[in-house]
Amino acid sequence: MIAIGGDHASLELKAEIIEHLKGRGIEAKDFGTYTKESCDYPDIAKLVANAVLSGECEKGILICGTGIGISIAANRIKGIRCALCGDCFSAQATREHNDSNILALGARVTAGGLALKIVDTWLDTPFSEGPRHKQRIAKIEEM
Ligand code: RB5
Repeated sequence: MIAIGGDHASLELKAEIIEHLKGRGIEAKDFGTYTKESCDYPDIAKLVANAVLSGECEKGILICGTGIGISIAANRIKGIRCALCGDCFSAQATREHNDSNILALGARVTAGGLALKIVDTWLDTPFSEGPRHKQRIAKIEEM
């Protein structure tokens, strides 16, 4: 199960991703927002982060206009490693090196087709388990 959420800027892309995941046989739990009414992205970041940390969802996807605000918010929560990606190379590298558990996307920055490729790359790339990467992640978790 993948947790997904975003602010009012995320609605179309969020729906597109949920549909895409469904096509791949992956269930997504939508933590909102559900309307165009302006809302605060930290509230959504917290819901998705908690779903990932509790184990309810395996990974999370967060979306706001730029992806910046919502990734900043998510990364304030201990145990969350949220990576804002606008390309597939970064999506692959952040799974292999950072074992990121949330992907952030900017709905006003990254167009749908590319965003879906980024989602696929991120979901399909395992953590490398490399000792140097584990050591760096452990240092992050100690901060
Ligand atoms: C909302 O207008 C916008 O500020 C938000 O979606 C995001 O881009 C913030 O980082």
